[in-house]
Amino acid sequence: MSESRVPRPRRFLVCEPRHFAVQYAINPWMQPDVQVDVDLAQEQWQELIRAYRAHGHTVDSVEPVAGLPDMVFAANSAVVVGGRVFGSLFHAAERRPESTHYDMWFKAAGFTVYRPEAVCEGEGDLVPAGRYLLAGTGFRTTREAHRELQEYFGMPVISLTLVDPYFYHLDTALFVLDDGPAGNIVYYPDAFSPGSREVLARLYPDAVLASREDAMAFGLNSVSDGRHVFIAPRAERLASCLTDHGYVPVPVDLSEFHKAGGGIKCCTQEIRS
Ligand code: ARG
Repeated sequence: MSESRVPRPRRFLVCEPRHFAVQYAINPWMQPDVQVDVDLAQEQWQELIRAYRAHGHTVDSVEPVAGLPDMVFAANSAVVVGGRVFGSLFHAAERRPESTHYDMWFKAAGFTVYRPEAVCEGEGDLVPAGRYLLAGTGFRTTREAHRELQEYFGMPVISLTLVDPYFYHLDTALFVLDDGPAGNIVYYPDAFSPGSREVLARLYPDAVLASREDAMAFGLNSVSDGRHVFIAPRAERLASCLTDHGYVPVPVDLSEFHKAGGGIKCCTQEIRS
């Protein structure tokens, strides 16, 4: 079956963890002043970039800025669909300045950037999934932003409510396996309100369901190219389930980034042309 899964080359935007640290706590994973091993973080991050390139993906990078330790989480800076950039307005004051630097990168690369009026955190909560845009709310991105997003892209936005503070961004609880018209996803049901769980079950009857253990191992913070799934190595049960479904797990360990509440997907912005 794995022969039938066809990868699509992606263009990713990332930010090197030169200034990565845990200096404030804005999610339950962050213990203020916990020591981050920056050298190890650099090695782990380089490994992710190597893995992307080895699988045929293009990787661009934004210059990191001192004093913005979470800037490494590129996914939060925007959501890009059809070459149009819907920027971010961070919930936490500490992260707000990141937007200027990402917007500058996008503009220099020839993109037009939309500045949202409502709080929203890019692909952290706004996940393009074929014909829909899946949109998380509950901790960061607001429902007003979901409305703004729908007006901007003219795509149906499916609002999903997150209920567990450990899974404060949609991309910690769900990822897209395949973004073709029929599309499929993986998610951890208990991260969602009962109504949102029902919505997901209706839209994706064939979704792969993950356990709390997989979710706590950042297994839902994965990146799929339609065939290869770049995934945290500790999400073993989920990885073997994906193999059964014909996908090829590519384990990449970003354990240093878990200290800030981030993983593979958080470090990766997809530029969809
Ligand atoms: N410390 C960051 C925050 O809480 C982590 C962001 C993780 N990014 C993500 N796409 N889930 O904002």
